[in-house]
Amino acid sequence: MQRVFSGIQPSGIPTLGNYLGAIRNWVGLQSDHECIWCVVDLHAITVFQDPKALRQQTLEMAATLLACGVDPQNHILFAQSSVRSHVQLAWIFNCVARIGWLNRMTQFKDKAGKDRENASAGLYVYPNLMAADIHAYHATRVPVGDDQRQHLELANDIAKKFNFDYGVEFFPQIEPLILGPAARVMSLRDGTKKMSKSDPSEQSRINMNDDGDAIALKIRRAKTDPEPLPDAVAGLEGRPEARNLVGIYAALAETDHASVLQDFGGKGFGTFKEALAELMVEKLAPINNETRRWLDDEGSIVRILQAGAERAAAIADPIVAEAERLVGFIGLQR
Ligand code: TYM
Repeated sequence: MQRVFSGIQPSGIPTLGNYLGAIRNWVGLQSDHECIWCVVDLHAITVFQDPKALRQQTLEMAATLLACGVDPQNHILFAQSSVRSHVQLAWIFNCVARIGWLNRMTQFKDKAGKDRENASAGLYVYPNLMAADIHAYHATRVPVGDDQRQHLELANDIAKKFNFDYGVEFFPQIEPLILGPAARVMSLRDGTKKMSKSDPSEQSRINMNDDGDAIALKIRRAKTDPEPLPDAVAGLEGRPEARNLVGIYAALAETDHASVLQDFGGKGFGTFKEALAELMVEKLAPINNETRRWLDDEGSIVRILQAGAERAAAIADPIVAEAERLVGFIGLQR
């Protein structure tokens, strides 16, 4: 059975983009993979997080994942900072990855923006930690949204260079799993920008804890163009907002763009948005209720994360100890 690893940052409330681009696909993989799911709090602090809020957001993220169907019994759910091996391997990867490789990372450029000099050093080496997350488990499949594609290519380059430098075949290549019609959910205000937890505009995203009224309002206000929906996928060309809403509908209905257009082609956005809001509420309301149920029992979330960390460390620690031995560390402190 192939081992799967994926992570999500507790840097805010998870969005519909996180759900459709990642979490829902995670759950689907659990039937025939050995899965390791990680709330990546070390990654979150590459941008300052209020300590109290970070703790709460970590618990809320775990609660959302559990509510979406992540199975902590047959698979592993834990917080990244609880397993030290991630940081230890990340340091080695900081020394394997080249500055030129990191300079090409588009996400750093997006996140650091114009004030690059003032970004944290952690934000710059963020992809090396992400590579360490995956390689510490010798995971071979990584389900993510489309925005993480470049980071996974870098993780493969790091594995290749480590193997070459030390003359070993130690870290395997990983296969990105970028699945479904909503691998890149866009902002509701601008169809060319990714939907993101950290977008200052609340109206740009659906939060996983939005209630039915908030969802209906945000969808009604979502930016569109004046034309009716096209009959075929080719007609979505040059219409990013229309493509985005059709993709979201397709993902929620577990179908594809073409069959959504079969039903709604020729109809105006008024009708389509109403159907979309209704479908979204139907799919998200049970998750929202289940998340709240988990949050009423914080103790059991903490116990799940504790047990998950122990099981994760049992896999990662020997792999990272071997990487350290290959590098030439004397390794007496473990
Ligand atoms: P993060 O927390 O930004 O997002 C978590 C997952 O959600 C996906 N995603 C989206 N998918 C579609 N449309 C969107 N608008 C959208 N926004 C987010 C992301 O692609 C991701 O799969 N660096 C990662 C976390 C990470 C990780 C890892 C992932 C750390 N270590 C190791 C995989 C393997 C991140 O910031 O995800």
